[in-house]
Amino acid sequence: MRTYDALIIGAGAAGLMCAISAGRRGRKVAVIEHLDHPGAKILISGGGRCNFTNREVVPERFLSANPAFCRSALARFTSGDFIDMVDAHGIAWHEKTLGQLFCDGSARQIVAMLMAECRDAGVEVCLGHRVTDVAAGFVVSTDHGPFTAPSLVLAAGGLAIPKMGATGFALEVARRFGLGLAPTRPALVPLTFQGEALEIMRPLSGLSLEVAASHGRTSFREGMVFTHRGVSGPAVLQISSYWVPGSEIALDLVPGVDVLAALLAAKRARPKAQVATILGGMLPARLADVLGPKRGMADMPDKDLARIAAGINAWTLTPSGTEGYAKAEVMAGGVDTAGLSSRSMEARAVPGLFVVGEAVDVTGWLGGYNFQWAWASGWAAGLAV
Ligand code: FDA
Repeated sequence: MRTYDALIIGAGAAGLMCAISAGRRGRKVAVIEHLDHPGAKILISGGGRCNFTNREVVPERFLSANPAFCRSALARFTSGDFIDMVDAHGIAWHEKTLGQLFCDGSARQIVAMLMAECRDAGVEVCLGHRVTDVAAGFVVSTDHGPFTAPSLVLAAGGLAIPKMGATGFALEVARRFGLGLAPTRPALVPLTFQGEALEIMRPLSGLSLEVAASHGRTSFREGMVFTHRGVSGPAVLQISSYWVPGSEIALDLVPGVDVLAALLAAKRARPKAQVATILGGMLPARLADVLGPKRGMADMPDKDLARIAAGINAWTLTPSGTEGYAKAEVMAGGVDTAGLSSRSMEARAVPGLFVVGEAVDVTGWLGGYNFQWAWASGWAAGLAV
């Protein structure tokens, strides 16, 4: 039996950061990872450049049944703290848009940094270890033999992208120890449509434009791309986290432009022009062709122009679903925060058991927020194990 102060299951963003903060405190730590390499999702993140944090991290940009839960951890390990670590390792980075920070070079640098920090903190990272059982105490049985420690951190992530090693393991173990689970669903995920909406969208597949995508009072003004199954792109991924099956979303295809006012003005100024031609001044030509009738402006009653304008400024749609965990960037929901300490991530009813990262019911916006949650929650637990 190998004995430690703390065992961490999962060598992803949250698990490695937890190991670093615990190891720096002199705790004897082992990280147990079933894949043969650490940080699999870090490596593919941000198109290979890892959008490792965001300059504008505020609790309001995280979804959870308890929106205040993330506050404490985010305040104790900030994006500035992560940037300091990146700078200390000489990793060059840049701000892309909306406060999003990326490596100039490669996401590999972030994984190398975390592994170097683990090494310096005396952490053992055990790769290619399949966990076969977790028992109270805690005893973690693996195909390389048993490990034991008084603290166990579940850092095994969520259900997004099963092809990359994502499992429901953290949720399963949490449930077995009596922790509650908030319902899980794919988030930051493309939306799919059926019927008339899909008939409009499919031929436009590949076309991108800036939109404002809204669900209730929440709105994101960013890029959108039509796909052969519906819509994707940052604005859609963001709103997908708020969407619940059966509910509507609204797309403003020309945010900031009053389309009705523009059409009424064009009717006076260019009565012979076709509607699609006028719309072509506001929208990509392919989209204008689909949405604008091939009729002269003078022939269009104002009420018909109003209908067209409403369909462009507030195209109201009910998605039929999402592209699921296979295409989702994260899982929303997870271990219920009501059963965890927001300061340490420790389960209130099971002393010594901690849950961090995506497995917890805290889901960030697109743009580096999910890694910041993983760093911050991992750090908080590492200070307590
Ligand atoms: P994570 O999934 O990173 O780590 C869990 C670890 O546990 C993995 O190494 C896994 O193999 C291991 N594991 C699972 N089951 C196990 C078991 N039974 N036994 C042992 N080990 C097990 N976020 C962001 O902020 N910026 C970005 O640029 C991106 N980009 C991005 C792109 C893509 C394609 C995806 C899918 C996701 C992103 N994300 C992102 C989201 C981000 O990757 C995610 O929020 C974090 O990786 C979550 O960190 P965790 O450590 O909680 O889980």
